[in-house]
Amino acid sequence: MKDIIETLRAGQGQSFINLSAGNPVILPEVEQLWRDCTADLLNSAEYGEVVCRYGSSQGYEPFIEAVLSDFNQRYGLTLTERNILVTPGSQSLYFFAANAFGGYTADGQLRDIVLPLSPDYTGYGGVSLYPEALRAYKPALDIDAAAHSFKYRPDFSQLEITDRTGFVLFSRPCNPTGNVLTDDEVHRIADLAAPQNVPVFVDSAYAPPYPALNFTEMTPIFRKNMVHCLSLSKAGLPGERIGIALGDESIIQVLQSFQTNLCIHSSRYGQAIAARAIASGALATLAETVIRPYYRNKFAVLEESLDQFMPTTAPWYLHRGEGAIFAWLWFDQLPATDRELYQQLKQYGVIVVPGDPFFPGLQEDWQHTRQCIRISLTATDAEIAQGIQHLATVVTALYQQQPATTAAVAMSS
Ligand SMILES: Cc1ncc(COP(=O)(O)O)c(C=O)c1O
Repeated sequence: MKDIIETLRAGQGQSFINLSAGNPVILPEVEQLWRDCTADLLNSAEYGEVVCRYGSSQGYEPFIEAVLSDFNQRYGLTLTERNILVTPGSQSLYFFAANAFGGYTADGQLRDIVLPLSPDYTGYGGVSLYPEALRAYKPALDIDAAAHSFKYRPDFSQLEITDRTGFVLFSRPCNPTGNVLTDDEVHRIADLAAPQNVPVFVDSAYAPPYPALNFTEMTPIFRKNMVHCLSLSKAGLPGERIGIALGDESIIQVLQSFQTNLCIHSSRYGQAIAARAIASGALATLAETVIRPYYRNKFAVLEESLDQFMPTTAPWYLHRGEGAIFAWLWFDQLPATDRELYQQLKQYGVIVVPGDPFFPGLQEDWQHTRQCIRISLTATDAEIAQGIQHLATVVTALYQQQPATTAAVAMSS
C-alpha cells in the first residue's frame, strides 16, 4: 500500500489507471442523502445535544433505536439495547475483539483468532497485539476451468475450533475476493464454535441491508454465539467512522468495556445523521437501488473486458463475483510473483493491489498467495477496460516466457 500511495503521489499529472482504490465512489444520490440528513439535524433542537455533550459509551440513543427497530422488523429478531454497540468504524471493533478474546490469557495460554477462509481482509493482519494469535486456514478451490472462474470454499476437513480458540472472524461478502459464504457454510462454522462457547464475528461491511453490496442472495445469520458486525463506510459514510456490533449481551459488554477505556464513545454526529437515514428507510432503499447496481455493473464491465482481452488458453481465473467492491484474479503457475506483476503493470500506468497481503495468519507457504491480484471496482468503465487490456498484454508475455513443459502443465490445470 505504501508503494501504491507513493507511486500515485509521485505520478501526479501522469494519468494512472488506479484499480487499487479501497475508498468507495461518492455516488451523487448517496451524498445528497447525507446532505439532507445534515440539514435536518442542523435545523433541529437536537443539534446541541449531539455535538456539545458526552453520551453513553454504547452509542447515540436515537441511532441505537433506529438500528434495533430496523433489524428487528426486517429479520424478525428481538434485539434490545443490551445487544448493540456502536464503535468508531468497524476496524476498531475487530481490534477490541482481537485483544479481548484473542491473545494471551492471564495464565499465559494463547487464544487463537481463527480466520476460517483465507484469503480475507488484510486489515485483520494487524489487529492483535500478538500477531502469532492469528491462524488462517487454506481454502478448497472450486474451479470452472472452461469459464476461467473459481470460488474459495472453507475446507472443513482442516478447520479446527477448540478450547484454545479465542474467536472466529470472516468477512461476508469478502474483501478481497467478493466471496459470499453460503448460509450452510456459516452455520457449519458456528456449529463448530458453539460447543466451545467461541464467538463468531461476521464482518458484514458489505452485507445487506446497508450497503447491500451482495450480488447473490444472502441472509444475515443471527445465532447466540455470533456477532453481526456492520459498517456504514460503504454506505457512504467512511469519514464518519461508524461500526456496529449486534450480538449476545455477554460479548457486547466485553467490547463496550474495552471501548470505554479506549475512547469513551464514538462520535455522535455521524450517528445522528445516520439515525435519520435508517429510520426513514432511505438508506436501505438507496443501498438496493443505487449502491448495489453501481458496483454490480462495474463487475459486469470487468467480466466483459476479461473475456474480450485476456488470452483464452492461459490459466487465469476470476473469483465468482458475489459481492463487495473488488474483483480477485488468480494466475495459476504464473512465472512471476504477484508483486512482480504489480510492478510490470505499473510500467503501463495501471495500479492494482498484489494479493499476498490478503493472507494474514496463513502459516504454511502456499504458492497461490503469490499468484493473485485485487482489482477495485471504483474506476470508470473506460479505465477498467483499458486496465484489463494492459493486464492481458503483460500476462500473455509472462506466460509465453515459460519453458514449454511448464506452460503445457499450466494450460491443462
Ligand atoms: C471487510 C472489511 N472489514 C472492515 C473494514 C473496515 O471498515 P470501517 O471503515 O468500518 O472501519 C473494511 C474496510 O475496507 C473492510 O473491507
